[in-house]
Amino acid sequence: MTPIKSLTDYEDSFYLNKKVFIRVDFNVKVKDGFVSEDYRIRSAMSTIEYLVKRGARIILASHLDRPKGKDMRYSLLPVSAKLSEILSPFNIPVSFSCDCMGIETLSKINSLNNGDVILLENLRFYPEEENNDEEFSKKLASYADIYVNDAFSTSHRKHSSTYGAVKYFNTKIVGFNVAKEIEYLSSLRENPSKPFTVVVGGVKIKDKIGALNNLLPKATKVLIGGAASYTFLKANGISVGDSLVDDHYLSWASKALDKYSEKIILPVDHKVALSENSTEYQLVRNHIPKNMKGFDIGEATVHKFIHEIHNNNNTGLGTIFWNGPMGFFENELFSHSTKSIAMSMALAFWRGVKTLVGGGDTLEAMKVAGVSEKEVTHVSTGGGASLRFLAGDEMPGIDILKNG
Ligand code: 3PG
Repeated sequence: MTPIKSLTDYEDSFYLNKKVFIRVDFNVKVKDGFVSEDYRIRSAMSTIEYLVKRGARIILASHLDRPKGKDMRYSLLPVSAKLSEILSPFNIPVSFSCDCMGIETLSKINSLNNGDVILLENLRFYPEEENNDEEFSKKLASYADIYVNDAFSTSHRKHSSTYGAVKYFNTKIVGFNVAKEIEYLSSLRENPSKPFTVVVGGVKIKDKIGALNNLLPKATKVLIGGAASYTFLKANGISVGDSLVDDHYLSWASKALDKYSEKIILPVDHKVALSENSTEYQLVRNHIPKNMKGFDIGEATVHKFIHEIHNNNNTGLGTIFWNGPMGFFENELFSHSTKSIAMSMALAFWRGVKTLVGGGDTLEAMKVAGVSEKEVTHVSTGGGASLRFLAGDEMPGIDILKNG
């Protein structure tokens, strides 16, 4: 095993005239043909710019969503337009290949000049990508001289572009975005500066268990809101009505509550309604009535959580990690708590606390609250990938870069 190489480990001249295949994760939100959230695209800019300036020819490859075959609703064309817009101030031309395979794609790649950038069409239009197909991997690898992984958020996948193709490259390098993610998330996983507050929300408790198993022993306090909290509340003997509960994890939640009773803080009141699209809610304390569902934590819980965040980290020291909204914030009626947590995170950041936000929904929730990503120490591009990394799981897309 050789240590992972970074972009700066090579002389500038090394990149001149070289074709570089960069696996990026441009799996972003596209609405009515336009990119509505471009954080992941911007996160790849430092790597692209660095290589362009050194005279490399850039081939960008990504997936978008989970299409079943070639479904043009998942075309990366809108992403290419956004990328061109972002790169235009730097005078970096971007072209688009409406396939990621085939003779035309190859010919476009072979006609790239130094400093040119081409984005290939959605890799997942071919099932071979997710199947890590050998022939598909070889074809991808034949496009370039150098492989760069700048897609942290896809590094937990053993796909052709993240894994299978990589072994065919003599030079494989970690991009700036992935390097930054590894640095921040490793410090969170191994040695977070104390006091360490974890704020967890969102829906899928299953995805969070590994990370929680690792973070609970290190955390000072763990505040659990959002749909994730109903499983904990039920495990604690509280009625949760028809709220979302993952019964598979009740016994895990119950053990966690026994072991870390001093650390885990659960909601004490809830905004409940019949459905997520309701136009009114009831505020209830402790138990949720039958037939009702919880869609947000209540005011008393918000105060408690904010108090914990500021109490723990009031000296401007320590770390806060936030993953998952506190309620169904897409409905304005249930967005208050998530906005309040986002604003508390920003305040803690301005005080000097190291704040980390797990990507996806949490970033969107922050934006709804008017908190910019500049008011956070680090916003991870990874949803599932960050949680897997924090759980200490294998990351094939990163591990493969170690095999020199
Ligand atoms: C993500 O959005 O978490 C990544 O792009 C990975 O997407 P996937 O879960 O569809 O593999």
